[in-house]
Amino acid sequence: MPIRLTVIGTGYLGITHAACMADLGFEVLGLDIDADKIRRLQNGELPIHEEGLEPLLRRGLESGRLRFTTSYEEVAAFGDVHFMCLGTPQKKGEYAADVSQLDDAVEALAPHLGRECLVVGKSTVPVGTAERLAAKIQRLAPAGAGAELAWNPEFLREGFAVQDTLEPDRIVIGVRSQKAEQTLREVYRPLGEVPMVVTDFATAELVKSAANAFLATKISFINAMAEVCEAAHADVQQLATALSYDDRIGGRFLNAGLGFGGGCLPKDIRAFMARAGELGADQALTFLREVDAINMRRRARMVDLARELAGGSFHGCTVGVLGAAFKPNSDDIRDSPALDVAATIGQQGGLVSVYDPIALDNARKAHPELSYATSAAEAARGANVVLLLTEWNEFVQLDPEELGAVVATRKIVDGRNALDPARWRAAGWHYRALGRP
Ligand code: UDX
Repeated sequence: MPIRLTVIGTGYLGITHAACMADLGFEVLGLDIDADKIRRLQNGELPIHEEGLEPLLRRGLESGRLRFTTSYEEVAAFGDVHFMCLGTPQKKGEYAADVSQLDDAVEALAPHLGRECLVVGKSTVPVGTAERLAAKIQRLAPAGAGAELAWNPEFLREGFAVQDTLEPDRIVIGVRSQKAEQTLREVYRPLGEVPMVVTDFATAELVKSAANAFLATKISFINAMAEVCEAAHADVQQLATALSYDDRIGGRFLNAGLGFGGGCLPKDIRAFMARAGELGADQALTFLREVDAINMRRRARMVDLARELAGGSFHGCTVGVLGAAFKPNSDDIRDSPALDVAATIGQQGGLVSVYDPIALDNARKAHPELSYATSAAEAARGANVVLLLTEWNEFVQLDPEELGAVVATRKIVDGRNALDPARWRAAGWHYRALGRP
Protein backbone atom coordinates (compact mmCIF):
# COMPACT_ATOMS: atom_id res chain seq x y z
CA MET A 1 0.00 0.00 0.00
CA PRO A 2 1.45 3.41 -0.90
CA ILE A 3 1.88 5.84 1.98
CA ARG A 4 -1.16 8.08 2.52
CA LEU A 5 -0.54 11.58 3.80
CA THR A 6 -2.60 14.14 5.66
CA VAL A 7 -1.82 17.81 6.16
CA ILE A 8 -3.29 19.51 9.21
CA GLY A 9 -3.58 23.30 8.86
CA THR A 10 -4.02 24.95 5.46
CA GLY A 11 -2.04 28.18 5.67
CA TYR A 12 0.82 29.12 3.27
CA LEU A 13 2.79 26.09 4.42
CA GLY A 14 -0.02 23.52 4.64
CA ILE A 15 -1.68 24.21 1.29
CA THR A 16 1.67 24.23 -0.50
CA HIS A 17 2.80 21.02 1.18
CA ALA A 18 -0.50 19.25 0.47
CA ALA A 19 -0.64 20.29 -3.20
CA CYS A 20 3.04 19.48 -3.85
CA MET A 21 2.82 16.06 -2.20
CA ALA A 22 -0.32 15.23 -4.23
CA ASP A 23 1.54 16.29 -7.37
CA LEU A 24 4.37 13.91 -6.46
CA GLY A 25 1.80 11.09 -6.58
CA PHE A 26 0.69 10.71 -2.96
CA GLU A 27 -2.91 10.56 -1.87
CA VAL A 28 -3.32 13.57 0.41
CA LEU A 29 -6.11 14.65 2.73
CA GLY A 30 -5.91 18.24 4.01
CA LEU A 31 -7.64 19.40 7.17
CA ASP A 32 -8.55 22.76 8.59
CA ILE A 33 -11.00 23.74 11.31
CA ASP A 34 -12.19 26.65 9.10
CA ALA A 35 -15.08 25.04 7.19
CA ASP A 36 -15.41 27.95 4.76
CA LYS A 37 -11.75 27.69 3.80
CA ILE A 38 -12.08 23.95 3.28
CA ARG A 39 -15.10 24.46 1.03
CA ARG A 40 -13.19 26.99 -1.08
CA LEU A 41 -10.11 24.78 -1.31
CA GLN A 42 -12.25 21.82 -2.34
CA ASN A 43 -13.57 24.07 -5.15
CA GLY A 44 -10.03 24.84 -6.28
CA GLU A 45 -10.00 28.36 -4.80
CA LEU A 46 -6.76 29.50 -3.15
CA PRO A 47 -7.15 31.79 -0.13
CA ILE A 48 -3.60 33.10 -0.68
CA HIS A 49 -1.52 34.24 -3.62
CA GLU A 50 1.38 31.90 -4.29
CA GLU A 51 3.21 31.57 -7.59
CA GLY A 52 2.44 28.27 -9.35
CA LEU A 53 0.26 26.85 -6.59
CA GLU A 54 -3.20 27.11 -8.17
CA PRO A 55 -2.49 24.69 -11.06
CA LEU A 56 -1.12 22.17 -8.57
CA LEU A 57 -4.20 22.50 -6.39
CA ARG A 58 -6.52 22.01 -9.37
CA ARG A 59 -4.51 19.11 -10.71
CA GLY A 60 -4.60 17.42 -7.30
CA LEU A 61 -8.35 17.89 -6.98
CA GLU A 62 -9.07 16.69 -10.54
CA SER A 63 -6.91 13.58 -10.13
CA GLY A 64 -8.75 12.79 -6.89
CA ARG A 65 -5.39 12.51 -5.09
CA LEU A 66 -6.03 15.69 -3.11
CA ARG A 67 -9.08 16.20 -0.88
CA PHE A 68 -9.98 18.38 2.06
CA THR A 69 -11.99 17.82 5.23
CA THR A 70 -12.72 19.29 8.64
CA SER A 71 -12.92 15.89 10.35
CA TYR A 72 -10.05 14.70 12.54
CA GLU A 73 -11.65 11.27 12.67
CA GLU A 74 -11.46 10.99 8.89
CA VAL A 75 -7.86 12.22 8.87
CA ALA A 76 -6.83 9.72 11.54
CA ALA A 77 -8.46 6.83 9.69
CA PHE A 78 -6.94 7.87 6.35
CA GLY A 79 -3.32 8.79 7.02
CA ASP A 80 -0.08 6.92 7.56
CA VAL A 81 1.79 10.19 7.96
CA HIS A 82 0.17 13.34 9.40
CA PHE A 83 1.98 16.63 8.69
CA MET A 84 1.17 19.37 11.20
CA CYS A 85 1.44 22.74 9.44
CA LEU A 86 -0.11 25.05 12.02
CA GLY A 87 0.67 28.67 12.75
CA THR A 88 2.76 29.70 15.76
CA PRO A 89 2.10 33.46 15.98
CA GLN A 90 3.65 35.84 18.48
CA LYS A 91 1.68 36.04 21.75
CA LYS A 92 -0.05 39.37 22.35
CA GLY A 93 2.17 41.69 24.36
CA GLU A 94 5.10 39.29 24.66
CA TYR A 95 7.91 37.85 22.59
CA ALA A 96 7.04 34.17 23.04
CA ALA A 97 5.33 32.09 20.36
CA ASP A 98 1.78 30.89 20.86
CA VAL A 99 1.86 27.16 20.10
CA SER A 100 -1.74 26.51 21.14
CA GLN A 101 -2.81 25.62 17.57
CA LEU A 102 -0.39 22.68 17.67
CA ASP A 103 -1.59 21.57 21.09
CA ASP A 104 -5.22 21.82 19.96
CA ALA A 105 -4.47 19.78 16.83
CA VAL A 106 -2.69 17.04 18.77
CA GLU A 107 -5.52 16.91 21.30
CA ALA A 108 -8.09 16.60 18.51
CA LEU A 109 -6.12 14.05 16.49
CA ALA A 110 -4.42 11.76 19.00
CA PRO A 111 -7.52 10.09 20.53
CA HIS A 112 -8.49 8.87 17.01
CA LEU A 113 -5.05 7.43 16.14
CA GLY A 114 -6.16 3.80 16.28
CA ARG A 115 -3.39 2.48 14.01
CA GLU A 116 0.33 2.81 13.44
CA CYS A 117 1.25 6.21 12.05
CA LEU A 118 3.78 9.02 12.11
CA VAL A 119 2.80 12.54 13.19
CA VAL A 120 5.27 15.06 11.71
CA GLY A 121 5.60 18.61 12.99
CA LYS A 122 6.58 21.17 10.34
CA SER A 123 5.75 24.41 12.18
CA THR A 124 8.44 26.71 13.58
CA VAL A 125 8.39 26.12 17.35
CA PRO A 126 10.29 26.93 20.53
CA VAL A 127 12.82 24.15 21.16
CA GLY A 128 11.30 21.54 23.50
CA THR A 129 7.85 21.65 21.90
CA ALA A 130 8.33 18.36 20.03
CA GLU A 131 9.27 16.50 23.20
CA ARG A 132 6.20 17.88 24.96
CA LEU A 133 3.89 17.02 22.05
CA ALA A 134 5.36 13.49 21.80
CA ALA A 135 4.43 12.90 25.43
CA LYS A 136 0.95 14.28 24.76
CA ILE A 137 0.44 11.90 21.82
CA GLN A 138 1.63 9.02 23.99
CA ARG A 139 -0.87 9.98 26.66
CA LEU A 140 -3.88 10.61 24.41
CA ALA A 141 -3.52 7.98 21.65
CA PRO A 142 -5.27 4.64 22.21
CA ALA A 143 -2.93 2.25 24.05
CA GLY A 144 -0.66 0.16 21.83
CA ALA A 145 -1.71 1.87 18.59
CA GLY A 146 1.86 2.89 17.71
CA ALA A 147 1.56 6.58 16.95
CA GLU A 148 4.97 8.30 16.85
CA LEU A 149 6.18 11.89 16.43
CA ALA A 150 8.93 13.32 14.20
CA TRP A 151 10.05 16.93 13.65
CA ASN A 152 10.70 18.15 10.11
CA PRO A 153 11.04 21.96 9.91
CA GLU A 154 10.06 23.75 6.73
CA PHE A 155 12.26 26.46 5.18
CA LEU A 156 10.06 27.67 2.32
CA ARG A 157 9.92 31.31 1.30
CA GLU A 158 6.62 32.90 0.32
CA GLY A 159 6.56 33.60 -3.39
CA PHE A 160 8.82 30.58 -3.95
CA ALA A 161 6.87 28.11 -1.82
CA VAL A 162 6.25 25.53 -4.56
CA GLN A 163 9.83 25.66 -5.83
CA ASP A 164 11.25 25.47 -2.28
CA THR A 165 9.02 22.48 -1.46
CA LEU A 166 9.85 20.52 -4.59
CA GLU A 167 13.54 21.51 -4.73
CA PRO A 168 14.58 22.07 -1.11
CA ASP A 169 18.19 22.97 -0.19
CA ARG A 170 18.08 20.37 2.54
CA ILE A 171 15.70 18.22 4.55
CA VAL A 172 16.06 18.15 8.32
CA ILE A 173 14.36 15.46 10.36
CA GLY A 174 14.33 14.95 14.11
CA VAL A 175 13.41 11.36 14.92
CA ARG A 176 13.43 8.89 17.78
CA SER A 177 13.38 5.66 15.78
CA GLN A 178 14.80 4.19 12.60
CA LYS A 179 11.30 3.43 11.51
CA ALA A 180 10.34 7.10 11.61
CA GLU A 181 13.47 7.95 9.62
CA GLN A 182 12.65 5.27 7.02
CA THR A 183 9.09 6.55 6.66
CA LEU A 184 10.22 10.14 6.04
CA ARG A 185 12.95 9.02 3.62
CA GLU A 186 10.22 7.16 1.72
CA VAL A 187 7.97 10.24 1.65
CA TYR A 188 10.73 12.50 0.33
CA ARG A 189 12.22 9.94 -2.10
CA PRO A 190 10.41 11.47 -5.13
CA LEU A 191 12.37 14.70 -4.57
CA GLY A 192 15.58 12.90 -5.59
CA GLU A 193 18.99 13.66 -4.14
CA VAL A 194 18.53 16.23 -1.38
CA PRO A 195 21.01 16.61 1.51
CA MET A 196 19.32 15.15 4.59
CA VAL A 197 20.25 15.85 8.20
CA VAL A 198 18.86 13.23 10.56
CA THR A 199 19.00 14.34 14.16
CA ASP A 200 17.15 14.59 17.48
CA PHE A 201 14.01 16.63 18.15
CA ALA A 202 15.75 19.59 19.81
CA THR A 203 18.35 20.03 17.07
CA ALA A 204 15.73 19.79 14.33
CA GLU A 205 13.63 22.47 16.02
CA LEU A 206 16.66 24.69 16.56
CA VAL A 207 17.89 24.49 12.95
CA LYS A 208 14.85 26.47 11.86
CA SER A 209 15.18 29.11 14.58
CA ALA A 210 18.90 29.44 13.83
CA ALA A 211 18.36 29.74 10.07
CA ASN A 212 15.82 32.53 10.50
CA ALA A 213 18.01 34.27 13.09
CA PHE A 214 20.94 34.18 10.67
CA LEU A 215 18.91 35.59 7.77
CA ALA A 216 17.47 38.36 9.94
CA THR A 217 20.95 39.18 11.23
CA LYS A 218 22.33 39.41 7.71
CA ILE A 219 19.63 41.90 6.71
CA SER A 220 20.07 43.95 9.88
CA PHE A 221 23.84 43.91 9.42
CA ILE A 222 23.59 45.62 6.06
CA ASN A 223 20.94 47.98 7.40
CA ALA A 224 23.29 48.90 10.27
CA MET A 225 25.92 49.66 7.62
CA ALA A 226 23.27 51.79 5.89
CA GLU A 227 22.91 53.85 9.09
CA VAL A 228 26.65 54.41 9.19
CA CYS A 229 26.68 55.22 5.46
CA GLU A 230 23.98 57.83 6.02
CA ALA A 231 26.10 59.45 8.75
CA ALA A 232 29.29 59.27 6.68
CA HIS A 233 27.77 60.22 3.30
CA ALA A 234 28.74 56.84 1.85
CA ASP A 235 26.75 54.50 -0.40
CA VAL A 236 25.50 51.23 1.13
CA GLN A 237 24.63 49.78 -2.29
CA GLN A 238 28.21 50.04 -3.50
CA LEU A 239 29.43 48.82 -0.12
CA ALA A 240 27.17 45.72 -0.36
CA THR A 241 28.31 45.00 -3.90
CA ALA A 242 31.93 45.14 -2.80
CA LEU A 243 31.22 42.84 0.18
CA SER A 244 29.33 40.36 -1.98
CA TYR A 245 32.41 39.42 -4.04
CA ASP A 246 33.75 37.70 -0.93
CA ASP A 247 32.37 34.13 -1.20
CA ARG A 248 32.32 33.88 2.57
CA ILE A 249 29.83 36.74 2.72
CA GLY A 250 27.87 36.38 -0.53
CA GLY A 251 25.40 38.84 -1.97
CA ARG A 252 22.07 37.30 -1.04
CA PHE A 253 20.07 38.85 1.80
CA LEU A 254 22.34 41.87 1.65
CA ASN A 255 19.80 44.34 0.26
CA ALA A 256 19.68 47.39 2.50
CA GLY A 257 16.35 49.14 2.76
CA LEU A 258 13.22 49.11 4.84
CA GLY A 259 14.16 45.80 6.48
CA PHE A 260 12.41 42.53 7.08
CA GLY A 261 8.76 41.87 7.84
CA GLY A 262 6.28 39.09 7.19
CA GLY A 263 4.79 36.30 9.23
CA CYS A 264 8.12 34.62 10.03
CA LEU A 265 11.40 36.47 10.56
CA PRO A 266 10.22 39.16 13.05
CA LYS A 267 8.18 36.86 15.26
CA ASP A 268 10.62 33.96 14.99
CA ILE A 269 13.63 35.91 16.27
CA ARG A 270 11.51 37.20 19.17
CA ALA A 271 10.24 33.71 20.02
CA PHE A 272 13.82 32.43 19.82
CA MET A 273 14.97 35.05 22.36
CA ALA A 274 12.04 34.25 24.64
CA ARG A 275 12.79 30.53 24.57
CA ALA A 276 16.53 31.04 25.16
CA GLY A 277 15.54 33.10 28.21
CA GLU A 278 13.40 30.28 29.57
CA LEU A 279 16.36 27.94 29.10
CA GLY A 280 18.72 30.29 30.96
CA ALA A 281 20.64 31.02 27.75
CA ASP A 282 19.30 34.52 27.15
CA GLN A 283 22.81 36.06 26.99
CA ALA A 284 23.53 33.99 23.89
CA LEU A 285 20.81 35.78 21.95
CA THR A 286 20.87 39.34 23.26
CA PHE A 287 22.34 40.34 19.86
CA LEU A 288 18.95 39.48 18.32
CA ARG A 289 17.46 42.36 20.31
CA GLU A 290 19.81 44.62 18.38
CA VAL A 291 18.90 42.88 15.11
CA ASP A 292 15.23 43.59 15.84
CA ALA A 293 15.94 47.19 16.92
CA ILE A 294 18.00 47.98 13.80
CA ASN A 295 15.17 46.56 11.70
CA MET A 296 12.49 48.68 13.38
CA ARG A 297 14.69 51.82 13.23
CA ARG A 298 14.63 51.59 9.40
CA ARG A 299 10.87 52.12 9.42
CA ALA A 300 11.26 55.19 11.63
CA ARG A 301 14.07 56.51 9.41
CA MET A 302 11.86 56.07 6.35
CA VAL A 303 9.10 58.17 7.98
CA ASP A 304 11.68 60.84 8.93
CA LEU A 305 13.07 61.00 5.38
CA ALA A 306 9.57 61.29 3.94
CA ARG A 307 8.71 64.07 6.41
CA GLU A 308 11.91 65.90 5.53
CA LEU A 309 10.98 65.83 1.84
CA ALA A 310 7.44 66.92 2.75
CA GLY A 311 8.94 70.09 4.25
CA GLY A 312 9.00 69.16 7.93
CA SER A 313 5.38 68.11 8.46
CA PHE A 314 2.86 65.79 6.84
CA HIS A 315 -0.09 68.13 7.48
CA GLY A 316 -1.70 69.06 4.18
CA CYS A 317 0.73 66.75 2.39
CA THR A 318 -0.29 64.04 -0.10
CA VAL A 319 1.90 60.94 0.06
CA GLY A 320 1.78 58.29 -2.68
CA VAL A 321 2.80 54.88 -1.35
CA LEU A 322 3.92 52.17 -3.74
CA GLY A 323 3.67 48.76 -2.07
CA ALA A 324 1.73 47.21 0.81
CA ALA A 325 2.93 43.58 0.86
CA PHE A 326 5.87 42.70 3.11
CA LYS A 327 7.80 41.74 -0.01
CA PRO A 328 7.15 41.56 -3.77
CA ASN A 329 5.21 38.67 -5.36
CA SER A 330 3.21 38.13 -2.21
CA ASP A 331 -0.17 39.34 -0.96
CA ASP A 332 0.94 38.85 2.64
CA ILE A 333 0.79 42.00 4.75
CA ARG A 334 1.66 40.46 8.11
CA ASP A 335 4.10 42.82 9.85
CA SER A 336 4.62 44.60 6.55
CA PRO A 337 7.19 47.42 6.83
CA ALA A 338 5.43 49.19 3.93
CA LEU A 339 2.03 49.30 5.63
CA ASP A 340 3.61 50.18 8.95
CA VAL A 341 5.25 53.24 7.37
CA ALA A 342 2.05 54.19 5.50
CA ALA A 343 -0.04 53.94 8.68
CA THR A 344 2.45 56.00 10.72
CA ILE A 345 2.45 58.78 8.10
CA GLY A 346 -1.36 58.70 8.14
CA GLN A 347 -1.33 59.07 11.94
CA GLN A 348 1.02 62.04 11.60
CA GLY A 349 -1.46 63.88 9.39
CA GLY A 350 -0.41 62.84 5.87
CA LEU A 351 -2.98 62.06 3.18
CA VAL A 352 -1.77 58.61 2.18
CA SER A 353 -2.77 56.79 -1.00
CA VAL A 354 -1.51 53.21 -1.23
CA TYR A 355 -1.20 50.98 -4.28
CA ASP A 356 -0.06 47.35 -4.42
CA PRO A 357 -0.55 44.92 -7.34
CA ILE A 358 -2.15 42.14 -5.24
CA ALA A 359 -2.11 42.94 -1.52
CA LEU A 360 -4.76 45.69 -1.55
CA ASP A 361 -7.65 43.58 -0.24
CA ASN A 362 -5.60 42.42 2.72
CA ALA A 363 -4.25 45.93 3.30
CA ARG A 364 -7.74 47.44 3.26
CA LYS A 365 -8.94 44.99 5.92
CA ALA A 366 -5.99 45.71 8.20
CA HIS A 367 -5.88 49.50 7.62
CA PRO A 368 -9.31 50.77 6.61
CA GLU A 369 -8.23 54.29 7.65
CA LEU A 370 -5.87 54.63 4.64
CA SER A 371 -6.87 55.45 1.04
CA TYR A 372 -6.18 52.97 -1.71
CA ALA A 373 -5.52 53.44 -5.42
CA THR A 374 -5.92 51.07 -8.36
CA SER A 375 -2.59 51.88 -10.03
CA ALA A 376 0.81 53.36 -9.24
CA ALA A 377 -0.09 56.48 -11.23
CA GLU A 378 -3.33 56.92 -9.30
CA ALA A 379 -1.51 56.56 -5.95
CA ALA A 380 1.01 59.18 -7.09
CA ARG A 381 -1.56 61.61 -8.50
CA GLY A 382 -1.12 65.01 -6.86
CA ALA A 383 1.49 63.63 -4.45
CA ASN A 384 3.98 65.90 -2.77
CA VAL A 385 6.15 62.86 -2.03
CA VAL A 386 6.17 59.33 -3.49
CA LEU A 387 7.51 56.41 -1.43
CA LEU A 388 8.59 53.09 -2.91
CA LEU A 389 8.17 50.64 -0.06
CA THR A 390 7.87 47.18 -1.71
CA GLU A 391 10.09 46.51 -4.72
CA TRP A 392 7.52 45.03 -7.12
CA ASN A 393 8.95 44.71 -10.62
CA GLU A 394 6.10 46.90 -11.84
CA PHE A 395 7.48 49.76 -9.71
CA VAL A 396 11.09 49.16 -10.72
CA GLN A 397 9.96 49.49 -14.37
CA LEU A 398 8.11 52.80 -13.79
CA ASP A 399 8.95 55.60 -16.21
CA PRO A 400 10.09 58.63 -14.15
CA GLU A 401 8.79 61.01 -16.85
CA GLU A 402 5.31 59.46 -16.90
CA LEU A 403 5.04 59.38 -13.12
CA GLY A 404 6.47 62.90 -12.97
CA ALA A 405 3.54 64.13 -15.07
CA VAL A 406 0.94 63.19 -12.42
CA VAL A 407 2.63 64.21 -9.14
CA ALA A 408 2.49 67.66 -7.55
CA THR A 409 6.22 67.69 -6.87
CA ARG A 410 8.87 65.27 -8.17
CA LYS A 411 10.14 63.88 -4.87
CA ILE A 412 10.68 60.19 -4.22
CA VAL A 413 12.13 58.07 -1.41
CA ASP A 414 13.30 54.65 -2.56
CA GLY A 415 12.81 52.49 0.53
CA ARG A 416 14.19 49.37 -1.14
CA ASN A 417 17.13 50.69 -3.16
CA ALA A 418 15.36 49.33 -6.20
CA LEU A 419 15.47 52.32 -8.58
CA ASP A 420 18.32 53.79 -10.61
CA PRO A 421 19.06 57.14 -8.92
CA ALA A 422 20.73 58.60 -12.05
CA ARG A 423 17.65 57.90 -14.18
CA TRP A 424 15.23 59.48 -11.70
CA ARG A 425 17.46 62.50 -11.06
CA ALA A 426 17.88 63.01 -14.81
CA ALA A 427 14.08 63.24 -15.05
CA GLY A 428 14.11 66.06 -12.51
CA TRP A 429 13.20 64.02 -9.43
CA HIS A 430 14.53 64.79 -5.98
CA TYR A 431 15.60 61.19 -5.26
CA ARG A 432 16.46 59.94 -1.78
CA ALA A 433 17.15 56.40 -0.59
CA LEU A 434 17.98 54.64 2.65
CA GLY A 435 21.74 54.35 3.15
CA ARG A 436 22.78 56.44 0.18
CA PRO A 437 23.97 60.02 -0.14
C1 UDX B 1 11.59 33.66 5.52
C2 UDX B 1 12.78 32.74 5.27
O1 UDX B 1 13.51 33.19 4.12
C3 UDX B 1 12.32 31.31 5.07
O2 UDX B 1 13.42 30.45 4.89
C4 UDX B 1 11.50 30.90 6.28
O3 UDX B 1 11.01 29.59 6.10
C5 UDX B 1 10.35 31.86 6.51
O4 UDX B 1 10.84 33.19 6.62
P1 UDX B 1 9.75 34.82 3.95
O5 UDX B 1 9.19 35.40 5.20
O6 UDX B 1 8.84 34.23 2.94
O7 UDX B 1 10.80 33.67 4.31
O8 UDX B 1 10.52 36.01 3.21
P2 UDX B 1 12.01 36.37 2.81
O9 UDX B 1 12.16 36.28 1.36
O10 UDX B 1 12.99 35.67 3.65
O11 UDX B 1 12.03 37.92 3.17
C6 UDX B 1 11.80 38.36 4.51
C7 UDX B 1 11.85 39.87 4.60
O12 UDX B 1 13.18 40.33 4.50
C8 UDX B 1 11.04 40.62 3.54
O13 UDX B 1 10.34 41.67 4.18
C9 UDX B 1 12.11 41.17 2.61
O14 UDX B 1 11.69 42.36 1.98
C10 UDX B 1 13.25 41.40 3.58
N1 UDX B 1 14.59 41.37 2.96
C11 UDX B 1 15.05 40.22 2.37
C12 UDX B 1 15.41 42.49 3.01
O15 UDX B 1 15.03 43.53 3.54
N2 UDX B 1 16.66 42.42 2.45
C13 UDX B 1 17.14 41.30 1.87
O16 UDX B 1 18.29 41.32 1.38
C14 UDX B 1 16.30 40.17 1.83
